[in-house]
Amino acid sequence: MRILVIGGGAREHTLVWKLNQSPNVKEIYVAPGNAGTGLIAQNLDIGATDLETLAQAAEGKNIELTVVGPEVPLAQGIVDLFHSRRIPCFGPTREATKIESSKVFAKELMHKYGIPCAQSRSFSSFDEARAYLQRQQPPIVVKADGLAAGKGSIVAQSQEEALEALSEIMEKRIFGAAGDQVLIEECLEGNEVSLLAFTDGKTVIPMVPACDYKRAFDGDQGPNTGGMGSYSPPKFFDEVMTNRVKDTILEPTVEAMAKEGKPFKGVLYAGLIMTLEGPKALEFNARFGDPENQVMIPRLKSDLLEVMLAVIDGTLDRTKVEWSNEACVGVVMASGGYPGSYTTGFPIEGCDEVDNDILVFHAGTKAKGGTIYTDGGRVLTVAAMGKTIAEARSRVYLNLPRIRFEGCHYRTDIAAREQS
Ligand code: AMP
Ligand code: GLY
Repeated sequence: MRILVIGGGAREHTLVWKLNQSPNVKEIYVAPGNAGTGLIAQNLDIGATDLETLAQAAEGKNIELTVVGPEVPLAQGIVDLFHSRRIPCFGPTREATKIESSKVFAKELMHKYGIPCAQSRSFSSFDEARAYLQRQQPPIVVKADGLAAGKGSIVAQSQEEALEALSEIMEKRIFGAAGDQVLIEECLEGNEVSLLAFTDGKTVIPMVPACDYKRAFDGDQGPNTGGMGSYSPPKFFDEVMTNRVKDTILEPTVEAMAKEGKPFKGVLYAGLIMTLEGPKALEFNARFGDPENQVMIPRLKSDLLEVMLAVIDGTLDRTKVEWSNEACVGVVMASGGYPGSYTTGFPIEGCDEVDNDILVFHAGTKAKGGTIYTDGGRVLTVAAMGKTIAEARSRVYLNLPRIRFEGCHYRTDIAAREQS
């Protein structure tokens, strides 16, 4: 089959790497891709949100399956567009993507169908939101309704901080129309974990759980980022818990979406928090995670292409999805200054000096004249498998210093808490 993967991060490099191992894959194109995908597939110079050009390219190249990585094209309706042109496309429709693109929609769905989550209220008036906020005890969570590149949720430790966040979202409109509505939510406490599932709209098959690290620096200090590392599996989340979340959150959500006339097909990502009352949903995404993918997909033993086709065909009930018992740890190497301003264009050295079984997934990288240069904030995710998290972790940190570029920074504590 000829496949098109949309996106250009390490999540997409991981998908391309895995799909490339399928015996039924003939050619893979990636739009726009990066230097890493360019080594194993053919990059197309088309942005991930340029839907019409993507559709034309897919038609021109007789693409038989399109896989969408990021949320923005899904929210724009890429799956609807491709289906209307008869190009098979893996992912939810625009309406189904609302579970990620509108936090108010997701919250109303959860409340209506009794899916465990934080208590919250939604507002479209700044004055009403402020009045409500002033009656709440901190910590309080303020969330912009729409897509905000992972930056739309603020956990405020004081009234002032919460009001400031509310004003930035609704008055200064720092996230634009994504801040037309807000959620004000109770703050929950507990370990956080991501549990994703393949679903064809009826059958739900959970993947392996993973944890990601959002803050820039060790000890969860510094600003929020797109993700600085991840590991799978976390000790605190076993198979019994996976089944519990499947029964109480994932399956009821897929059923609810069908009942609401928005059948969900693709990958449903539940961001969970393990409270004393049990697991609760913090958010849903309509796609694979980044950097979770970089530690989950290496553990997938089954043919990813077959699973994706079963999702599209609605035959997931007859499909087996198998995972390795090994652990995986991934660390993001970022440009100096990220997530603030940073400089790109530095040569990256040493990618071929790591041990053979170390996985180097590219994100912001660009190839020119045989050299690979930095080209974004998050540059690479370096991942290692091991019998245990401790083994995977020591292997990844042994290899990381062999890769070098000017200003490079990475966290040194990814998965460290699993060892104590
Ligand atoms: P979200 O965009 O909903 O995934 O939120 C981003 C991050 O904010 C989560 O990963 C949590 O760390 C935190 N967060 C969101 N909602 C809550 C909540 N109700 N209670 C505590 N932390 C939260
Ligand atoms: N790791 C968070 C996300 O993919 O949204």
